[in-house]
Amino acid sequence: MCNGPVVKANPRHRGGTNHALLLEVTLDGVGRGRQAEELSARLRDAVRHGSLPPGTRLPTSRALASDLGVSRGVVVRAYEQLTAEGYLRARQGSGTEVAAAPHRPADRPQVVTRPSTNPGLPAGATFPRAAWLRSAGRALHQLPDADLGYGDPAGLSRLRGELSSYLGRVRALIAPPGRIVIVNGFGQASRLLADVLRERGVHQIGVEDPGSVGLRDQLTRTGMECVPVPVDRDGIRVDLLARSALRAVVVTPAHQFPTGVVMAPDRRHALLRWAGDTGGLIVEDDYDAEFRYDRTPVGALQGLGPEAVAYGGSVSKTLAPALRLGWLVLPEHLVTPLTEAKYAADLGSGVWEQATLADFLASGEMDRHIRRMATRYRARRDRLVSELGTHLPTWSVTGTAAGLHLVVHPPSDEDEAELVTLAAQSGLDARPLSQYAIAEPPRPGLVIGYGHRGPDALAGSVTDLARRIQQRRRGGTGAG
Ligand SMILES: Cc1ncc(COP(=O)(O)O)c(C=O)c1O
Repeated sequence: MCNGPVVKANPRHRGGTNHALLLEVTLDGVGRGRQAEELSARLRDAVRHGSLPPGTRLPTSRALASDLGVSRGVVVRAYEQLTAEGYLRARQGSGTEVAAAPHRPADRPQVVTRPSTNPGLPAGATFPRAAWLRSAGRALHQLPDADLGYGDPAGLSRLRGELSSYLGRVRALIAPPGRIVIVNGFGQASRLLADVLRERGVHQIGVEDPGSVGLRDQLTRTGMECVPVPVDRDGIRVDLLARSALRAVVVTPAHQFPTGVVMAPDRRHALLRWAGDTGGLIVEDDYDAEFRYDRTPVGALQGLGPEAVAYGGSVSKTLAPALRLGWLVLPEHLVTPLTEAKYAADLGSGVWEQATLADFLASGEMDRHIRRMATRYRARRDRLVSELGTHLPTWSVTGTAAGLHLVVHPPSDEDEAELVTLAAQSGLDARPLSQYAIAEPPRPGLVIGYGHRGPDALAGSVTDLARRIQQRRRGGTGAG
Protein backbone atom coordinates (compact mmCIF):
# COMPACT_ATOMS: atom_id res chain seq x y z
CA MET A 1 0.00 0.00 0.00
CA CYS A 2 2.82 2.37 0.83
CA ASN A 3 4.76 3.69 -2.15
CA GLY A 4 6.90 6.04 -0.08
CA PRO A 5 10.64 6.35 -0.32
CA VAL A 6 12.84 3.47 0.75
CA VAL A 7 16.32 3.62 2.22
CA LYS A 8 18.23 2.48 -0.84
CA ALA A 9 21.35 0.38 -1.26
CA ASN A 10 24.62 2.22 -1.02
CA PRO A 11 27.13 0.89 -3.53
CA ARG A 12 30.05 2.27 -1.52
CA HIS A 13 29.42 -0.14 1.27
CA ARG A 14 31.03 -3.54 1.10
CA GLY A 15 28.67 -6.44 1.13
CA GLY A 16 25.35 -4.54 0.88
CA THR A 17 23.63 -1.45 2.16
CA ASN A 18 25.13 0.78 4.81
CA HIS A 19 21.86 2.02 6.26
CA ALA A 20 23.57 3.96 9.00
CA LEU A 21 25.48 6.01 6.43
CA LEU A 22 22.30 6.72 4.49
CA LEU A 23 20.45 7.71 7.63
CA GLU A 24 23.47 9.83 8.58
CA VAL A 25 23.75 8.33 12.04
CA THR A 26 26.71 6.98 13.88
CA LEU A 27 26.87 6.00 17.51
CA ASP A 28 30.65 6.20 17.69
CA GLY A 29 31.78 7.17 21.14
CA VAL A 30 28.30 6.84 22.68
CA GLY A 31 28.34 4.77 25.86
CA ARG A 32 26.37 1.51 25.76
CA GLY A 33 23.78 2.66 28.26
CA ARG A 34 22.84 5.66 26.14
CA GLN A 35 22.89 4.16 22.66
CA ALA A 36 19.13 3.52 22.32
CA GLU A 37 18.28 6.98 23.61
CA GLU A 38 20.81 8.60 21.28
CA LEU A 39 19.60 6.66 18.27
CA SER A 40 15.99 7.65 19.08
CA ALA A 41 17.03 11.31 19.28
CA ARG A 42 18.86 11.23 15.93
CA LEU A 43 16.04 9.46 14.11
CA ARG A 44 13.43 11.76 15.72
CA ASP A 45 15.38 14.80 14.48
CA ALA A 46 15.63 13.32 11.01
CA VAL A 47 11.84 12.83 10.89
CA ARG A 48 11.14 16.30 12.27
CA HIS A 49 13.43 18.05 9.85
CA GLY A 50 12.13 16.12 6.89
CA SER A 51 15.31 14.24 5.99
CA LEU A 52 13.29 11.07 6.66
CA PRO A 53 9.97 11.90 4.99
CA PRO A 54 6.68 10.14 5.81
CA GLY A 55 6.46 6.70 4.26
CA THR A 56 10.25 6.06 4.28
CA ARG A 57 10.89 2.39 4.98
CA LEU A 58 13.49 1.88 7.64
CA PRO A 59 16.05 -0.89 7.57
CA THR A 60 15.40 -3.94 9.69
CA SER A 61 16.65 -3.70 13.24
CA ARG A 62 19.17 -6.43 12.50
CA ALA A 63 20.61 -4.63 9.45
CA LEU A 64 20.83 -1.22 11.15
CA ALA A 65 22.35 -2.75 14.28
CA SER A 66 25.02 -4.45 12.21
CA ASP A 67 25.87 -1.21 10.34
CA LEU A 68 26.06 0.78 13.56
CA GLY A 69 28.03 -1.88 15.35
CA VAL A 70 25.53 -2.08 18.23
CA SER A 71 23.34 -4.85 19.57
CA ARG A 72 19.99 -5.40 17.88
CA GLY A 73 18.18 -4.57 21.14
CA VAL A 74 19.41 -0.96 20.87
CA VAL A 75 17.68 -0.48 17.51
CA VAL A 76 14.56 -2.35 18.63
CA ARG A 77 14.25 -0.07 21.67
CA ALA A 78 14.72 3.07 19.56
CA TYR A 79 12.11 1.92 17.02
CA GLU A 80 9.66 1.07 19.83
CA GLN A 81 10.18 4.43 21.47
CA LEU A 82 9.58 6.37 18.25
CA THR A 83 6.57 4.20 17.39
CA ALA A 84 5.08 4.99 20.79
CA GLU A 85 5.66 8.70 20.16
CA GLY A 86 4.03 8.49 16.72
CA TYR A 87 7.10 9.22 14.58
CA LEU A 88 7.32 5.65 13.24
CA ARG A 89 4.75 2.97 12.64
CA ALA A 90 4.70 -0.73 11.86
CA ARG A 91 4.28 -1.36 8.14
CA GLN A 92 1.45 -3.58 7.00
CA GLY A 93 3.13 -6.93 6.48
CA SER A 94 6.43 -6.34 8.19
CA GLY A 95 9.03 -3.69 8.90
CA THR A 96 8.89 -0.14 10.12
CA GLU A 97 8.28 3.13 8.30
CA VAL A 98 8.15 6.84 9.04
CA ALA A 99 4.62 7.83 10.06
CA ALA A 100 2.80 10.95 8.84
CA ALA A 101 4.63 14.07 9.99
CA PRO A 102 3.78 15.01 13.56
CA HIS A 103 2.29 18.47 13.93
CA ARG A 104 5.18 20.86 14.35
CA PRO A 105 5.08 24.40 15.65
CA ALA A 106 4.48 26.80 12.80
CA ASP A 107 7.42 28.99 11.76
CA ARG A 108 4.99 31.79 11.15
CA PRO A 109 1.30 32.30 11.90
CA GLN A 110 -0.85 30.04 9.78
CA VAL A 111 -4.35 30.65 8.58
CA VAL A 112 -6.60 28.33 10.57
CA THR A 113 -9.27 26.70 8.44
CA ARG A 114 -12.58 27.50 10.06
CA PRO A 115 -15.14 24.78 9.46
CA SER A 116 -18.60 26.20 8.82
CA THR A 117 -20.18 23.35 10.79
CA ASN A 118 -19.03 21.04 13.54
CA PRO A 119 -20.33 17.53 14.23
CA GLY A 120 -20.90 18.48 17.85
CA LEU A 121 -23.09 21.51 17.25
CA PRO A 122 -26.05 21.72 19.62
CA ALA A 123 -29.52 22.58 18.35
CA GLY A 124 -29.64 26.34 17.78
CA ALA A 125 -33.43 26.30 17.49
CA THR A 126 -33.88 25.14 21.08
CA PHE A 127 -31.58 27.67 22.70
CA PRO A 128 -33.52 28.84 25.80
CA ARG A 129 -33.80 32.44 24.64
CA ALA A 130 -36.49 33.55 27.08
CA ALA A 131 -34.83 32.00 30.14
CA TRP A 132 -31.41 33.35 29.13
CA LEU A 133 -32.88 36.81 28.65
CA ARG A 134 -34.50 36.68 32.09
CA SER A 135 -31.16 35.71 33.63
CA ALA A 136 -29.40 38.46 31.69
CA GLY A 137 -31.93 41.03 32.90
CA ARG A 138 -31.70 39.95 36.53
CA ALA A 139 -27.91 39.79 36.34
CA LEU A 140 -27.59 43.32 34.99
CA HIS A 141 -30.09 44.63 37.49
CA GLN A 142 -28.19 43.11 40.40
CA LEU A 143 -24.66 43.85 39.19
CA PRO A 144 -23.01 46.41 41.50
CA ASP A 145 -21.57 49.44 39.69
CA ALA A 146 -18.14 48.43 40.93
CA ASP A 147 -18.38 45.19 38.92
CA LEU A 148 -18.62 47.15 35.68
CA GLY A 149 -14.91 47.90 35.79
CA TYR A 150 -12.24 45.34 34.92
CA GLY A 151 -13.20 42.18 36.71
CA ASP A 152 -11.06 39.57 38.40
CA PRO A 153 -9.24 37.85 35.49
CA ALA A 154 -9.96 34.49 37.17
CA GLY A 155 -13.66 35.23 36.75
CA LEU A 156 -16.67 36.63 38.59
CA SER A 157 -16.72 35.19 42.07
CA ARG A 158 -20.49 34.51 41.95
CA LEU A 159 -20.08 32.41 38.81
CA ARG A 160 -17.15 30.48 40.26
CA GLY A 161 -19.27 29.72 43.33
CA GLU A 162 -22.20 28.48 41.22
CA LEU A 163 -19.91 26.42 38.99
CA SER A 164 -18.27 24.88 42.01
CA SER A 165 -21.54 23.31 43.13
CA TYR A 166 -22.81 22.57 39.60
CA LEU A 167 -19.62 20.74 38.59
CA GLY A 168 -19.50 18.87 41.88
CA ARG A 169 -23.11 17.75 41.48
CA VAL A 170 -23.24 17.05 37.73
CA ARG A 171 -19.67 15.94 36.97
CA ALA A 172 -18.40 14.79 40.40
CA LEU A 173 -15.57 17.32 40.33
CA ILE A 174 -13.60 18.53 43.30
CA ALA A 175 -13.83 22.18 42.39
CA PRO A 176 -13.46 24.78 45.12
CA PRO A 177 -14.17 28.24 43.66
CA GLY A 178 -10.53 29.23 44.19
CA ARG A 179 -9.41 26.54 41.71
CA ILE A 180 -11.69 27.79 38.92
CA VAL A 181 -10.63 30.18 36.15
CA ILE A 182 -13.28 31.41 33.71
CA VAL A 183 -12.23 31.33 30.05
CA ASN A 184 -13.82 31.88 26.65
CA GLY A 185 -14.23 28.18 25.94
CA PHE A 186 -12.00 25.13 25.81
CA GLY A 187 -10.28 26.64 22.77
CA GLN A 188 -8.86 29.42 24.94
CA ALA A 189 -8.29 27.05 27.87
CA SER A 190 -6.00 24.85 25.79
CA ARG A 191 -4.01 27.82 24.49
CA LEU A 192 -3.50 29.30 27.94
CA LEU A 193 -2.45 25.94 29.36
CA ALA A 194 0.02 25.51 26.51
CA ASP A 195 1.49 28.96 27.22
CA VAL A 196 1.97 28.10 30.89
CA LEU A 197 3.44 24.68 30.11
CA ARG A 198 5.93 26.14 27.62
CA GLU A 199 7.05 28.68 30.21
CA ARG A 200 7.80 25.64 32.40
CA GLY A 201 9.91 24.00 29.72
CA VAL A 202 7.26 21.59 28.37
CA HIS A 203 7.33 21.85 24.59
CA GLN A 204 5.54 18.65 23.59
CA ILE A 205 2.04 17.55 24.43
CA GLY A 206 0.33 14.25 23.74
CA VAL A 207 -2.92 14.38 21.79
CA GLU A 208 -5.36 11.59 21.07
CA ASP A 209 -5.13 10.05 17.61
CA PRO A 210 -7.68 10.35 16.11
CA GLY A 211 -8.53 13.59 17.83
CA SER A 212 -9.67 17.17 17.45
CA VAL A 213 -8.06 19.02 14.55
CA GLY A 214 -9.06 22.35 16.09
CA LEU A 215 -7.24 21.47 19.30
CA ARG A 216 -4.07 20.51 17.40
CA ASP A 217 -4.24 23.82 15.51
CA GLN A 218 -4.66 25.79 18.73
CA LEU A 219 -1.76 24.06 20.45
CA THR A 220 0.54 24.19 17.44
CA ARG A 221 0.01 27.91 17.10
CA THR A 222 1.35 28.44 20.61
CA GLY A 223 4.58 26.69 19.62
CA MET A 224 3.68 23.33 21.18
CA GLU A 225 4.50 20.15 19.37
CA CYS A 226 1.53 17.78 19.31
CA VAL A 227 2.60 14.15 19.60
CA PRO A 228 -0.11 11.68 18.59
CA VAL A 229 -0.98 8.89 21.02
CA PRO A 230 -3.27 6.21 19.56
CA VAL A 231 -6.78 5.58 20.86
CA ASP A 232 -8.37 2.13 20.95
CA ARG A 233 -11.78 0.93 22.11
CA ASP A 234 -10.89 1.70 25.78
CA GLY A 235 -9.55 5.19 25.16
CA ILE A 236 -6.02 6.55 24.92
CA ARG A 237 -3.22 3.94 24.89
CA VAL A 238 -1.68 4.76 28.27
CA ASP A 239 0.93 2.00 27.77
CA LEU A 240 2.30 3.90 24.76
CA LEU A 241 2.06 7.23 26.55
CA ALA A 242 4.08 5.76 29.41
CA ARG A 243 6.83 4.71 26.99
CA SER A 244 7.15 8.24 25.61
CA ALA A 245 8.96 11.19 27.15
CA LEU A 246 5.72 13.20 27.27
CA ARG A 247 4.81 15.11 30.43
CA ALA A 248 1.44 16.48 29.36
CA VAL A 249 -1.50 15.00 27.48
CA VAL A 250 -4.98 16.13 26.45
CA VAL A 251 -7.76 13.54 26.70
CA THR A 252 -11.54 13.33 26.25
CA PRO A 253 -12.38 10.49 28.69
CA ALA A 254 -16.17 10.84 28.86
CA HIS A 255 -16.73 10.60 25.08
CA GLN A 256 -13.57 10.49 23.05
CA PHE A 257 -13.55 12.96 20.19
CA PRO A 258 -14.25 11.86 17.50
CA THR A 259 -14.51 8.06 18.00
CA GLY A 260 -16.99 8.38 20.88
CA VAL A 261 -15.40 5.63 23.01
CA VAL A 262 -15.77 6.05 26.77
CA MET A 263 -12.47 5.61 28.63
CA ALA A 264 -12.50 2.29 30.49
CA PRO A 265 -12.08 2.34 34.30
CA ASP A 266 -8.67 0.58 34.07
CA ARG A 267 -7.43 3.19 31.63
CA ARG A 268 -8.58 6.02 33.87
CA HIS A 269 -6.56 4.55 36.73
CA ALA A 270 -3.57 3.83 34.51
CA LEU A 271 -3.61 7.42 33.25
CA LEU A 272 -3.66 8.78 36.79
CA ARG A 273 -0.81 6.41 37.69
CA TRP A 274 1.17 7.73 34.71
CA ALA A 275 0.63 11.28 36.00
CA GLY A 276 1.67 10.25 39.52
CA ASP A 277 4.79 8.40 38.34
CA THR A 278 6.03 11.07 35.94
CA GLY A 279 4.65 14.30 37.41
CA GLY A 280 2.75 14.61 34.13
CA LEU A 281 -0.30 16.81 33.60
CA ILE A 282 -3.59 15.41 32.29
CA VAL A 283 -5.71 17.97 30.49
CA GLU A 284 -9.30 16.71 30.58
CA ASP A 285 -11.52 18.09 27.81
CA ASP A 286 -15.02 17.36 29.14
CA TYR A 287 -16.80 18.85 26.16
CA ASP A 288 -20.12 16.98 25.93
CA ALA A 289 -20.41 14.70 28.97
CA GLU A 290 -23.67 16.13 30.30
CA PHE A 291 -25.45 14.21 27.56
CA ARG A 292 -25.00 10.54 28.45
CA TYR A 293 -27.82 8.29 27.30
CA ASP A 294 -27.30 4.78 28.63
CA ARG A 295 -26.71 5.71 32.27
CA THR A 296 -26.01 8.62 34.60
CA PRO A 297 -22.97 10.50 33.28
CA VAL A 298 -19.74 8.95 34.59
CA GLY A 299 -17.93 11.39 36.84
CA ALA A 300 -15.00 13.33 35.46
CA LEU A 301 -11.47 12.00 35.79
CA GLN A 302 -10.61 15.15 37.74
CA GLY A 303 -12.59 13.87 40.72
CA LEU A 304 -10.10 11.01 41.08
CA GLY A 305 -6.99 13.16 40.80
CA PRO A 306 -7.56 16.89 41.23
CA GLU A 307 -3.82 17.64 41.56
CA ALA A 308 -2.96 15.78 38.35
CA VAL A 309 -5.77 17.05 36.13
CA ALA A 310 -6.46 20.41 34.53
CA TYR A 311 -10.15 20.08 33.73
CA GLY A 312 -11.82 22.14 31.00
CA GLY A 313 -15.47 22.55 30.12
CA SER A 314 -17.76 25.06 28.46
CA VAL A 315 -21.38 25.81 27.57
CA SER A 316 -20.68 25.15 23.89
CA LYS A 317 -22.63 21.85 23.89
CA THR A 318 -25.16 22.49 26.65
CA LEU A 319 -26.17 25.97 25.47
CA ALA A 320 -24.37 27.46 22.45
CA PRO A 321 -20.78 27.89 21.22
CA ALA A 322 -21.65 31.52 20.41
CA LEU A 323 -21.65 32.43 24.12
CA ARG A 324 -17.88 31.74 24.38
CA LEU A 325 -18.07 30.81 28.05
CA GLY A 326 -16.02 28.07 29.64
CA TRP A 327 -13.99 27.18 32.70
CA LEU A 328 -10.86 25.50 33.93
CA VAL A 329 -10.59 23.67 37.25
CA LEU A 330 -6.92 23.52 38.09
CA PRO A 331 -4.36 21.88 40.36
CA GLU A 332 -3.35 24.44 42.93
CA HIS A 333 0.07 25.16 41.40
CA LEU A 334 -1.49 26.21 38.08
CA VAL A 335 -4.12 28.66 39.37
CA THR A 336 -1.92 31.76 39.56
CA PRO A 337 -0.01 31.21 36.30
CA LEU A 338 -3.26 30.48 34.45
CA THR A 339 -4.93 33.58 35.88
CA GLU A 340 -1.94 35.64 34.76
CA ALA A 341 -2.05 34.08 31.31
CA LYS A 342 -5.77 34.88 31.07
CA TYR A 343 -5.10 38.47 32.09
CA ALA A 344 -2.33 38.77 29.52
CA ALA A 345 -4.62 37.33 26.83
CA ASP A 346 -7.70 39.53 27.25
CA LEU A 347 -7.89 41.06 30.76
CA GLY A 348 -10.72 38.67 31.66
CA SER A 349 -14.02 37.41 30.23
CA GLY A 350 -17.11 39.62 29.91
CA VAL A 351 -18.69 40.29 33.30
CA TRP A 352 -22.34 40.52 32.21
CA GLU A 353 -22.16 37.16 30.40
CA GLN A 354 -20.59 35.60 33.48
CA ALA A 355 -23.24 37.07 35.76
CA THR A 356 -25.93 35.81 33.40
CA LEU A 357 -24.57 32.27 33.49
CA ALA A 358 -24.32 32.46 37.29
CA ASP A 359 -28.01 33.38 37.45
CA PHE A 360 -28.93 30.70 34.89
CA LEU A 361 -27.23 28.09 37.08
CA ALA A 362 -28.59 29.41 40.37
CA SER A 363 -32.19 29.56 39.11
CA GLY A 364 -32.12 25.89 38.05
CA GLU A 365 -32.58 26.80 34.36
CA MET A 366 -29.39 24.98 33.37
CA ASP A 367 -30.57 21.71 34.94
CA ARG A 368 -34.01 22.04 33.31
CA HIS A 369 -32.48 22.81 29.91
CA ILE A 370 -30.05 19.88 30.07
CA ARG A 371 -32.84 17.48 31.07
CA ARG A 372 -35.04 18.67 28.19
CA MET A 373 -32.23 18.52 25.66
CA ALA A 374 -30.97 15.11 26.78
CA THR A 375 -34.42 13.70 25.98
CA ARG A 376 -34.43 15.34 22.56
CA TYR A 377 -30.89 14.36 21.67
CA ARG A 378 -31.51 10.79 22.76
CA ALA A 379 -34.55 10.65 20.44
CA ARG A 380 -32.42 11.96 17.56
CA ARG A 381 -29.65 9.47 18.25
CA ASP A 382 -32.09 6.56 18.55
CA ARG A 383 -33.83 7.46 15.30
CA LEU A 384 -30.51 7.81 13.47
CA VAL A 385 -29.21 4.48 14.78
CA SER A 386 -32.44 2.66 13.98
CA GLU A 387 -32.63 4.08 10.42
CA LEU A 388 -29.01 3.14 9.81
CA GLY A 389 -29.77 -0.39 11.03
CA THR A 390 -32.75 -0.64 8.66
CA HIS A 391 -31.29 0.91 5.52
CA LEU A 392 -27.58 0.22 5.83
CA PRO A 393 -27.51 -3.04 7.83
CA THR A 394 -23.90 -3.90 6.97
CA TRP A 395 -22.64 -0.69 8.60
CA SER A 396 -21.71 -0.70 12.28
CA VAL A 397 -22.33 2.21 14.61
CA THR A 398 -20.05 3.20 17.53
CA GLY A 399 -19.65 6.03 19.99
CA THR A 400 -23.37 6.33 20.76
CA ALA A 401 -23.24 6.43 24.56
CA ALA A 402 -22.99 10.18 24.92
CA GLY A 403 -22.69 13.52 23.20
CA LEU A 404 -24.04 14.92 19.97
CA HIS A 405 -22.27 12.80 17.36
CA LEU A 406 -21.56 9.15 16.58
CA VAL A 407 -19.39 7.20 14.16
CA VAL A 408 -20.60 4.80 11.47
CA HIS A 409 -18.28 2.27 9.90
CA PRO A 410 -19.13 1.08 6.40
CA PRO A 411 -17.59 -2.17 5.17
CA SER A 412 -13.80 -1.89 4.81
CA ASP A 413 -13.80 -1.93 1.02
CA GLU A 414 -15.91 1.23 0.82
CA ASP A 415 -14.34 4.53 -0.17
CA GLU A 416 -14.68 6.88 2.79
CA ALA A 417 -14.38 10.12 0.81
CA GLU A 418 -16.99 9.03 -1.69
CA LEU A 419 -19.43 8.08 1.07
CA VAL A 420 -18.93 11.43 2.79
CA THR A 421 -19.84 13.18 -0.46
CA LEU A 422 -22.97 11.05 -0.84
CA ALA A 423 -23.89 11.60 2.82
CA ALA A 424 -23.52 15.37 2.43
CA GLN A 425 -25.71 15.25 -0.70
CA SER A 426 -28.29 13.44 1.43
CA GLY A 427 -28.24 16.24 3.99
CA LEU A 428 -26.25 14.46 6.71
CA ASP A 429 -23.61 16.35 8.67
CA ALA A 430 -20.92 13.77 7.99
CA ARG A 431 -17.17 14.00 7.80
CA PRO A 432 -14.44 11.42 7.26
CA LEU A 433 -12.94 9.82 10.36
CA SER A 434 -9.56 10.04 8.61
CA GLN A 435 -9.83 13.85 8.73
CA TYR A 436 -9.15 13.65 12.47
CA ALA A 437 -6.44 11.01 12.30
CA ILE A 438 -2.68 11.37 12.11
CA ALA A 439 -1.91 7.66 11.67
CA GLU A 440 -4.12 5.95 9.12
CA PRO A 441 -7.33 4.69 10.84
CA PRO A 442 -7.76 0.90 10.70
CA ARG A 443 -11.14 1.13 8.95
CA PRO A 444 -13.20 3.76 7.18
CA GLY A 445 -15.65 5.79 9.25
CA LEU A 446 -18.04 8.71 9.01
CA VAL A 447 -18.45 11.06 11.96
CA ILE A 448 -22.08 12.16 11.99
CA GLY A 449 -23.47 15.04 14.04
CA TYR A 450 -27.12 14.65 15.02
CA GLY A 451 -27.65 17.30 17.71
CA HIS A 452 -28.66 20.00 15.27
CA ARG A 453 -30.89 17.84 12.99
CA GLY A 454 -34.46 16.80 13.76
CA PRO A 455 -35.32 13.06 13.89
CA ASP A 456 -37.41 13.13 10.69
CA ALA A 457 -34.70 14.99 8.81
CA LEU A 458 -32.14 12.42 10.01
CA ALA A 459 -34.37 9.54 8.92
CA GLY A 460 -34.97 11.11 5.49
CA SER A 461 -31.24 11.63 5.00
CA VAL A 462 -30.39 8.02 5.84
CA THR A 463 -33.04 6.68 3.42
CA ASP A 464 -31.70 8.99 0.74
CA LEU A 465 -28.09 7.96 1.42
CA ALA A 466 -28.97 4.26 1.13
CA ARG A 467 -30.70 5.01 -2.20
CA ARG A 468 -27.67 6.89 -3.52
CA ILE A 469 -25.37 4.04 -2.54
CA GLN A 470 -27.63 1.55 -4.35
CA GLN A 471 -27.69 3.79 -7.40
CA ARG A 472 -23.92 4.06 -7.42
CA ARG A 473 -23.61 0.25 -7.23
CA ARG A 474 -25.83 -0.04 -10.25
CA GLY A 475 -23.49 2.35 -12.05
CA GLY A 476 -25.48 5.57 -11.65
CA THR A 477 -23.97 8.84 -10.49
CA GLY A 478 -25.68 8.87 -7.13
CA ALA A 479 -26.75 12.46 -7.70
CA GLY A 480 -30.44 13.14 -7.69
C1 LIG B 1 -13.22 17.99 21.19
C2 LIG B 1 -13.81 19.31 21.52
N1 LIG B 1 -13.48 19.89 22.66
C3 LIG B 1 -14.01 21.08 23.03
C4 LIG B 1 -14.89 21.72 22.21
C5 LIG B 1 -15.49 23.02 22.68
O1 LIG B 1 -14.67 24.09 22.45
P1 LIG B 1 -15.13 25.51 22.99
O2 LIG B 1 -15.45 25.34 24.43
O3 LIG B 1 -13.94 26.40 22.76
O4 LIG B 1 -16.31 25.96 22.18
C6 LIG B 1 -15.25 21.19 21.00
C7 LIG B 1 -16.17 21.88 20.12
O5 LIG B 1 -16.58 21.44 19.11
C8 LIG B 1 -14.70 19.93 20.65
O6 LIG B 1 -15.01 19.33 19.49
